[in-house]
Amino acid sequence: MLRIAVLVSGGGTNLQAIMDAMDSGKITGAEIAVVISNNKNARALTRAAEHGIKAVCISPKEYESRAEFNEAFLAKLNSCKVDLIVLAGFLVVLPEQMIQSYPNRIINIHPSLIPSFCGTGYYGLKVHEAALARGVKLTGATVHFVDEGTDTGPIILQKAVEVREGDTPEILQRRVMEEAEWVILPRAIDLIANQKVSVADGHVTIRA
Ligand code: GRF
Repeated sequence: MLRIAVLVSGGGTNLQAIMDAMDSGKITGAEIAVVISNNKNARALTRAAEHGIKAVCISPKEYESRAEFNEAFLAKLNSCKVDLIVLAGFLVVLPEQMIQSYPNRIINIHPSLIPSFCGTGYYGLKVHEAALARGVKLTGATVHFVDEGTDTGPIILQKAVEVREGDTPEILQRRVMEEAEWVILPRAIDLIANQKVSVADGHVTIRA
């Protein structure tokens, strides 16, 4: 069983999609060992608790410095002995030490087709505002491994979503979640849990 930590900051709809996929057998060979949030009010925490999954909050507000918070966060994570870390709407910049401790064992979902609309400053609705401002006809979502850069790690899965006439950032965000994020994040976890994913030279290969 692949032990997973899901890191969240907000609504937790991606977490919900993962839990649902585990319940329905779309993800096999994996379990969520812990859900960790930096935000005690995150709906994601109650979603986890409602599902009988251990949910903890480690807030930067409870620490004197960022360094102390980072240390506590990493210590918590390490104590959970997980094989994979899933960033599902986690709005904290990961400490470098964490990235180095879990090479190719941290994945993130980003709500665009990387390398479009990604990198510093592109999060949440801003991504969809930028896509609409540019007038793209297709956008989508990307699951990628996390490296030291922002949205620069090896790409695991992508799924395109149509942009429609009259879309607002909110409408587009919802469509990208429903049609892409909630599909490819669980799929990526299932592929990893079943040893179908390998990385070489910054490129991902998926075995059928
Ligand atoms: C999603 O749009 C995800 O792509 C981004 O943050 C959002 C999280 O939403 N990284 P939720 O908390 O899973 O509902």
